[in-house]
Amino acid sequence: MKNKITKAIIPAAGLGTRFLPVTKSIPKEMLPIVDIPTIQYIVEEVVKSGINNILIVVSSNKNDLVDYFDSNFELEETLRKKGKVKELEIIEKINNLANIQYVRQKYPKGLGDAILCAKNYINNEPFAVILGDDVIINKDKTIQPGLKQCIDIYEKHKKMVLGVQHVSYDETDKYGIIQPKNKNINSNSEIEVEGIIEKPKPENAPSQYAVIGRYILPPEIFEKIENSSLSSRGEIELTPALEAIAKQDGAYACNIIGERYDIGSKFGLIKATIDEALDHKEVKEEVSNYIKELAKKL
Ligand code: G1P
Repeated sequence: MKNKITKAIIPAAGLGTRFLPVTKSIPKEMLPIVDIPTIQYIVEEVVKSGINNILIVVSSNKNDLVDYFDSNFELEETLRKKGKVKELEIIEKINNLANIQYVRQKYPKGLGDAILCAKNYINNEPFAVILGDDVIINKDKTIQPGLKQCIDIYEKHKKMVLGVQHVSYDETDKYGIIQPKNKNINSNSEIEVEGIIEKPKPENAPSQYAVIGRYILPPEIFEKIENSSLSSRGEIELTPALEAIAKQDGAYACNIIGERYDIGSKFGLIKATIDEALDHKEVKEEVSNYIKELAKKL
């Protein structure tokens, strides 16, 4: 792999069944952390990592997400007429965040299949993939965004990079877990990877480093996905293709620094909401006082 990373894929076609009933009509990616939909956190991480071309893989029930990054002429005109300059600025910033395009995944056939939908957009270059279920928030602004940390390792080795974080053994069955090349990895920022196992039981986990939805992939991944067979859950997963690339060309894991929220789970979204509310200039005092009062009763 030689080229610079200029494109990112955001798979957002999932049904969001873990958040029913709200996801019956609202895309999971539009659920807010206080007042910002989670998909905006993801898009902003991509942009802050130096990538402006984004393809979001959606499904038929994600029109609200597509509308969110489009201009809303009526709303903008009303805000302009009423002199609501600050609100207008916020809205216009979202319209112009990045050069976003969309492709539809016709059937919910898994993450590998969703990425395959981006084959024509990618056009034989290495590219980034970022998943919406893992939001990384760094209060310390001197720390690079998670995806940028992965890109830096890619730039050094020109090999596939998987963004990971350390998890406890009772969580290995929720993630792709990397198999490091060397036993002694301590907590290095980069780890050479020999393979990856999808959602292993703790006793089968080859390490405690879980893939947290940040990938730098070579274009050869498409051919590997095309050759993948259906998993036990009836989907085309990404992990067998990652494993094939790691075995063929080698790969690295980037041990990402940052506070990660698993917002694919209800508790993760609640945690992110509380933490961001405690940092939100409009509500932080009220929320902090409320939590202190509440804590006395618990
Ligand atoms: C997917 C991947 C898994 C990865 C996880 C990160 O799993 O298959 O390897 O660790 O995302 O969020 P899913 O959340 O689709 O079950």
